[in-house]
Amino acid sequence: MELFPVYKQWDIEPVKGLGTTLWTADGEEYTDLYGGHAVISVGHCHPHYVAALNKQAQTLGFYSNAVKNSLQSTLAAKLGEASGYPDYALFLCNSGAEANENALKLASFATGRARVLAFGKAFHGRTSGAVGVTDNPKIRSPFNANPLVSFAPLNDLDAVERELSQGTYAAVIVEGIQGVAGIYEPTDQFLQGLRELCDKTGTILVADEIQSGYGRTGLFYAHQHAGIKADIITSAKGIANGFPMGAVLISPAIKPSYGMLGTTFGGNHLACAAAIAVLEIMEKEQLVANAAKVGEYFREALQNDKAVKEYRGRGLMIGLELKPEYVGLRDRLLFEKHFFTGAAGENVIRLLPSLTISLETARKFVKAWKELTA
Ligand SMILES: Cc1ncc(COP(=O)(O)O)c(C=O)c1O
Repeated sequence: MELFPVYKQWDIEPVKGLGTTLWTADGEEYTDLYGGHAVISVGHCHPHYVAALNKQAQTLGFYSNAVKNSLQSTLAAKLGEASGYPDYALFLCNSGAEANENALKLASFATGRARVLAFGKAFHGRTSGAVGVTDNPKIRSPFNANPLVSFAPLNDLDAVERELSQGTYAAVIVEGIQGVAGIYEPTDQFLQGLRELCDKTGTILVADEIQSGYGRTGLFYAHQHAGIKADIITSAKGIANGFPMGAVLISPAIKPSYGMLGTTFGGNHLACAAAIAVLEIMEKEQLVANAAKVGEYFREALQNDKAVKEYRGRGLMIGLELKPEYVGLRDRLLFEKHFFTGAAGENVIRLLPSLTISLETARKFVKAWKELTA
């Protein structure tokens, strides 16, 4: 049997990692500023993370949600404290798309309405409901086309008002910072206006913080830079440093009922042990502050670089739009200088490194970048 070839792949296979370093089987060393798509939050094979997973695997790897699991309550308490949402409730699942599916379902249950407003260029995942609110017809099959979903341009409050004032929307879903689109930020003013419009029209505000959250932008969630609270927040990617997990944080105003959500694997013992270890490491090593500090260094070093048309993002969620003559730089960074980075289309390089990245590693990257663009 062969693999179903849906991914564009480089012919490189990392087999070992430590911190922000990766090695291939033949001992070639690479520096990881991509984090496997914003997933590696506390570095590859962090000793505390490895020990926690080992210990849990030797104790109890899995049991279903038909029984109590105090690791889930420990995680909920820690996440409540770290996120600034201590009074919200936690539902655990297995991926970002699944977290968004559950968020939209909850909003619909809570309001009794069915429509959802999403934004131009948004990406919320590839399962049916999630891809239905993703503004990319290329990845939406006819089965996924959803007449209940409308799109408004990001940062256009008038367009949002026109839609929400109809009083028919269950939810608005917005990324803390748009990632897959190429790092586009909702302005603080836009998010504040969105909050007001949701309050006025009884619409649930869902913040998709799957890529932008978990400390990456220098606050726990990116929407918190605007000083607002969302009604539902979705997390995944870095939450368990590569162990599959999704999370939905739910306002106390939304009431649960038996069976309205559910999953076999969600919140299993191994995933919870991994996620608890991530929060412990984040707290002990002050990683949110490190993301802000190293992010500031990248901004100073690269925002006026001659290859950069526009520097976008916050903290360690960075989009570097290249001038046309520098398209191809990402491949050169990888093959000539051994740096993994992310992309959004041909002309945007995305940096999504582990929050543990040191200034020394950041400087090494900037040096390589400058050498290639000299
Ligand atoms: C903002 C956002 N939402 C949702 C998802 C989907 O997450 P997953 O691939 O875990 O389903 C992603 C993945 O890139 C994302 O960036």
